Amino acid sequence: MEYRELLDIAIDAYKNAYAPYSKVQVGAALLTKSGKVYTGVNVENASFGATNCAERTAVFKAVSEGEKEYVAIAVASNLEQIITPCGICRQVLIEFNPEMDVILGDKDNMNIYKLFEILPLGFKKDSFFEEGGEDEL
Ligand code: THU
Repeated sequence: MEYRELLDIAIDAYKNAYAPYSKVQVGAALLTKSGKVYTGVNVENASFGATNCAERTAVFKAVSEGEKEYVAIAVASNLEQIITPCGICRQVLIEFNPEMDVILGDKDNMNIYKLFEILPLGFKKDSFFEEGGEDEL
């Protein structure tokens, strides 16, 4: 799939965001190795700390459906400037693939980063599993 199409799916997804407090509507589109796309939106809460970001919603949906191999994630929002994933979301994503592409942009612009570039020195499962992780757990 073209990354432009993945970003357009994220743009489309943000319309479903539940963001009555910040009014920042965020959409994510997570591309799996098998070619499926899982969307996610931010889900806010009156208890602000209970908010879940769009990127994590997409990852949790995918894991719940048995998909743990990701190629790329696109993120978009209703803000004027391009939105970048928060630290918690970068940490959640790096668990699955530090090499994945992170596509940030809007209708007119698209920037592609590697996840490991935007989370330097990230804490990964091979940081404490000697053989690189217990993949099947
Ligand atoms: N948010 C996301 O969903 N993803 C990001 O990449 C950054 C921030 C959400 C959380 C909150 O609902 C709103 O944007 C404002 O912080």
